[in-house]
Amino acid sequence: MTQGVAGELERLRASARERIESATDQKALEGLRVSLLGKKGELTTILRQLGGLPAADRAAAGAEANQLKDEIFQWITDRMGGLEAKRHTALGDTEWVDLTFVPNPVRRGHLHPLTLILREVKAIFSRLGYEVALGPQVEDEFHNFEALNIPQDHPARDTMDSFYVEADDLLLRTHTSPVQIRFMQSHKPPIRIIAPGAVYRRDATDPSHGSQFYQVEGLVVDHDIRLSDLKGTIEYFARSLFGPERRIRIVGDHFPFTEPSIGAAVSCGICGGIGCRSCKGGWLEILGAGMVHPQVLRNGGIDPERYSGFAFGAGLDRLAMLKYNVTDLRLFLENDVRFLRQF
Ligand code: PHE
Repeated sequence: MTQGVAGELERLRASARERIESATDQKALEGLRVSLLGKKGELTTILRQLGGLPAADRAAAGAEANQLKDEIFQWITDRMGGLEAKRHTALGDTEWVDLTFVPNPVRRGHLHPLTLILREVKAIFSRLGYEVALGPQVEDEFHNFEALNIPQDHPARDTMDSFYVEADDLLLRTHTSPVQIRFMQSHKPPIRIIAPGAVYRRDATDPSHGSQFYQVEGLVVDHDIRLSDLKGTIEYFARSLFGPERRIRIVGDHFPFTEPSIGAAVSCGICGGIGCRSCKGGWLEILGAGMVHPQVLRNGGIDPERYSGFAFGAGLDRLAMLKYNVTDLRLFLENDVRFLRQF
């Protein structure tokens, strides 16, 4: 082997090793591989000179060059492995993902208990073929009182002490019964509606009374509607909403716009009917009802000789109290999430 080629191989061995060890990333190392071992690489250039050597030297120089080639290849492979390991370790600092991280759960809201009750009431009555009708919350005295047989000086106006709005004959409706009149005035029998909505009274606030609450009015007008139809409807409604274990009590009552009038109560689910803070006596009144007074039919434009009907008005908040065993009506309007979350 001639001094020239051997020396070049030696120099290449030293410089290649140096450069490979000091390569700082995989891309630089790949570049080194090409410039050392590639087709136009430094080792290849030396190998080309082998052809010009005497035959005796050629074999030794070739063996030497091939060994260097293997060495360089090994150094590159080792260094590549080292850099790859370093990159992996560094990932912990550069691209970390915390797989144990638990994000705050997305909190979904839900329906208010009064909305839940209203939906259930609507579902029950829609099975009986009722439609939903609505009326204004700011009413005139005619629809809220006069048309319902409550004239100016009638004592019933006292129990429904009202909030008046500017003009003397406008007030916040004290019950949903004015919707009876409005619907009769604009529709012909057969009529089968429920009319849910907010009502207002200047009531002293206590666990079962508030100045704003919700009612669901019902009105049925057709040929031959009887008290027994009303009673059956109330029973079907109460059993559907509260289940068969609650008892229902129907008693005589008085309303100027129904004749005869009745009241329905459901046994209290909190005390089982013995009497407690929220029911006072074991029963909670859920609705007032009766056969629509002939004059009220007339006021609605319907001939009482041909048609008869029944009406009822239920307190939606009361229904919700009974169904969910809530002891204080005011909770429904206070919007305390600790209360609302329980539904
Ligand atoms: N409007 C009455 C009330 O608010 C309830 C009622 C409605 C009674 C329909 C009879 C018929 O108390």
